[in-house]
Amino acid sequence: MERIYAHITGVQGYVPDFVLSNDILEKLVDTSDDWILSRTGISERRILRTKGLGTSDMAAAAVKELLKKTDTDPSQIDMLICATVTPDMVFPATANVICHKTGIKNVPGFDLGAACSGFLYALTVATKFIECGQFNKIIVVGADKMSSIMDYEDRATCVLFGDGAGAVLLEPGEEQVGVMDSILKSDGEGVKHLHQKAGGSVKPPSRRTVSRKEHFVYQEGRAVYKYAVQNMADVSAEIMEKHGLSGADVDWLVPHQANKRIIDATAKRMELEPEKVMLNIHKFGNTTAATIPLCLWEYENKLKKGDNLILASFGGGFTWGAIYLKWAYEPVV
Ligand code: UT7
Repeated sequence: MERIYAHITGVQGYVPDFVLSNDILEKLVDTSDDWILSRTGISERRILRTKGLGTSDMAAAAVKELLKKTDTDPSQIDMLICATVTPDMVFPATANVICHKTGIKNVPGFDLGAACSGFLYALTVATKFIECGQFNKIIVVGADKMSSIMDYEDRATCVLFGDGAGAVLLEPGEEQVGVMDSILKSDGEGVKHLHQKAGGSVKPPSRRTVSRKEHFVYQEGRAVYKYAVQNMADVSAEIMEKHGLSGADVDWLVPHQANKRIIDATAKRMELEPEKVMLNIHKFGNTTAATIPLCLWEYENKLKKGDNLILASFGGGFTWGAIYLKWAYEPVV
């Protein structure tokens, strides 16, 4: 029997209109454009400011456009997975809300929590459902409204994150393109360095948790950086080695966008020229689960069928991983 491959057959992103620039942040906290740009590579990020809107609204906007551009009726979708750390509500899953807002009915939908690696985890899970022949059309979404868990008085975190969503359509095919392999890892040692202290079952919301600002992202930046720079480069090298790929064989690195210095170190380890590295950190910041699909969306027209892509991430958990993907279609133009 021929092997079935999971092909990405469409990609779409969504970012809110409001631009939170370094200039604005300079007025909110003790920081500077120079510090932010030189330490992270970020100039601006997008923020979903409209009251009452959440992660599902950005995701639904991306999914609706994805359905339209791939000429897919919502009734054809077999499953939707949403990777996020900022669900609309603690329950039910944001995936259920997205399905409801986009007309996708009576199919499995669930959220997947792997922080900044969420999209790679979700794409891997969806790939297995395609490869085993159970489903024909799966949507994988990475979406986060990081502004909802950001303390805009904490200069160490508020300059880093932004809001956005990206979605891909995954379909089976016999041609040897699509998701070729994936390596995923996690290490709970990382919990103490990057987490949200309250709002879960250990520390439910209370006046005290709110007054102590425990519903925001807590990050020990320097410690996380040390792990990130090592592990994102290691796992990218590992998947290349496993498939006998040299830097010259790789057409694109699609890295999680947490810090330009981490991305540069990964590219260097892979022996890749800077032109082969997808970047959106300068204008969107760290959108957590959305960084990688947003990159694919923005670079879609530069991608050619058969291009070798390495998707790589590192984030909360710690979680990290890499996917070797062969692009499955020619530029849309
Ligand atoms: O996506 C999830 C995974 N997350 C990551 O991968 C993030 C990994 N970490 C990083 O990217 C970097 O550690 C940061 C960008 C978060 C911070 O950069 P850094 O070069 O590691 O800075 P630092 O935390 O070591 O801080 C250096 C100094 C400190 O001052 P002192 O103690 O040296 O006086 C900070 O207080 O910079 C100060 N600082 C700032 N100064 C101006 C921290 N944030 C700011 C700021 N503006 N926004």
